[in-house]
Amino acid sequence: MTATDTQFAQHLSTQRASAEEREAVLANPGFGNFFTDHTAVVDFRVDESGVGGWHDARLEPYGPIALDPAAAVLHYGQEIFEGMKAYRHADGSVWTFRADANAARLNRSAARLALPQLPEELFLESLRQLVSVDADWIPSGDGESLYLRPFMIATEAFLGVRPAREVSYRVIASPAGNYFGGEVKPVDIWVSRNYARAGRGGTGAAKAGGNYASSLAAQLEAEAHGCKQVLFLDQFNDNAVEELGGMNVFFVFRDGSLVTPALSGTILEGITRSSIIQLGRDRGLTVSERKITLDEWRDGVAGGDITEVFACGTAAVITPIGQLRDGDEFIGAAGTPAGEVTMSIRSQLLGIQTGTVEDTHGWLTRL
Ligand code: PLP
Ligand code: COI
Repeated sequence: MTATDTQFAQHLSTQRASAEEREAVLANPGFGNFFTDHTAVVDFRVDESGVGGWHDARLEPYGPIALDPAAAVLHYGQEIFEGMKAYRHADGSVWTFRADANAARLNRSAARLALPQLPEELFLESLRQLVSVDADWIPSGDGESLYLRPFMIATEAFLGVRPAREVSYRVIASPAGNYFGGEVKPVDIWVSRNYARAGRGGTGAAKAGGNYASSLAAQLEAEAHGCKQVLFLDQFNDNAVEELGGMNVFFVFRDGSLVTPALSGTILEGITRSSIIQLGRDRGLTVSERKITLDEWRDGVAGGDITEVFACGTAAVITPIGQLRDGDEFIGAAGTPAGEVTMSIRSQLLGIQTGTVEDTHGWLTRL
């Protein structure tokens, strides 16, 4: 298969969920609990002459993957992924948001994890193929969508530490409601003092499974303290705010300006983050990507300079942050309501994604 050959064979499932089973899932999808009937797959191999290529693009029934126990991904974590969503518009058409940015980020992650580059046409076609056979799984409630999870794993069986010569790229899809469950409401956040998510020169800017594995001990601490997500700091840089385990962070200041931590090489360049920067500027707001420390957060909230804080990401969309808990110290009041600016940007962004607000930046791609 050449880089531009994007023909997918269709091996369709003979055991699709029934309409009743699907409707039961769509009535209350939650996040990440249910999967559609199919998966898109493309394999990669480096041949004896050292030339690599993608081959065997196909749709398969959703199901377990047969992996050799020595597959590199199982030992050395050579894995990357993306997160994006498909939205059904009122006229029945299905769209995705900034797919070119996801394709580009997948390839940046691939470069960092020594995985092969995936041509953008192949990436887009894999999404189109999967959504074309599983479109009935797209929920249509407020804030609901079909979450798409493209990922790439090192499948070659060997135990020497080197980049795998056999790789599999796959896409699975999962009907999605609110990541935090129920209605959108402010979530409390735990400050990780014992663990960092990423370090300089590491893989923090890549969407690699290992980053999430390394966030889990901190996430457990957060949950033990009644918090929904964990905040990571750069403890070697004045406790600069980095990001949450699975989301970027924004601050709304009293003068209406927005601030988000600058990309330092250790945080993920969120596509929601860059869209909010653009939407903020479209509104005439000053939006800064700069260093913001935990002290500035604490003092800003206490003195009234910071009026709202929110998290953002594909899964989280825009979620207001309530209280920040740093050990025994609380930043912000319990029961802080969702901020007006937060909710207004959220409804604008969701409106663009779901086709009720004009897409002036050409961010949508029809699937
Ligand atoms: N930061 C982390 C660690 C994430 O996992 C995510 C989610 O994908 C984000 C930020 C936000 O990225 P995006 O807006 O592209 O989903
Ligand atoms: C996403 O938002 O797509 C992510 O990958 C983050 C994770 C918390 C689900």
